[in-house]
Amino acid sequence: MRVFTVVCALFVLTIASAAQAPTQKPVGSLAQVMRGILFPNSNILFDVQSKDPDTFGKKEEGSGASASFSGIYTGWQVVENAAIALNESARLLMVPGRTCENGRPVPVNQKDWAPFVEDLRKASQAMLKAAQAKNRDLASETTNDVAGACENCHTKYRDAPPRCTP
Ligand code: HEC
Repeated sequence: MRVFTVVCALFVLTIASAAQAPTQKPVGSLAQVMRGILFPNSNILFDVQSKDPDTFGKKEEGSGASASFSGIYTGWQVVENAAIALNESARLLMVPGRTCENGRPVPVNQKDWAPFVEDLRKASQAMLKAAQAKNRDLASETTNDVAGACENCHTKYRDAPPRCTP
């Protein structure tokens, strides 16, 4: 009985925290999320085409946190980290309440938005697998899927003005 009560209490707590979570308004516009998260991390992945991932994350000279902590994560782990960041960013593209830079809502309810986001999720998942396998040919090839996922959505929702409209 005691165990049951505790389980029930935990269940209620879980529901309460789940109910509170979505009330936090996103702080970044869609463009800001792209510039802050998708852009830098996808560039790391695209580098696999032209540079050997074993050389990624070298120690940099100089002061400041970026230089001081450079060289801690190196090699294929840098690729893994970027693939994970990109994969997790897919959730951020579905968050309700975010706006585009022009003030229009992110078109999360359009039929093709979620499939575009899903393509990004799948491509970044495939990148993660290739990085974990340290397979440069496969990783290089998979960057095309990542670029394609960015491009397909941009063709429809970014590059045809006004942005973020069907
Ligand atoms: C599901 C749709 C979608 C996907 C997937 C997507 N984007 Fe975007 N992206 C947009 C939209 C829409 C905008 C315009 C946002 C705005 O105006 O606020 C944008 C804007 C951007 C910008 C900002 C451009 C500027 O004005 O400075 C960058 C950079 C960017 N995306 C990079 C990427 C990269 C890199 C990827 C893939 C790894 C990607 N995006 C995937 C929809 C998408």
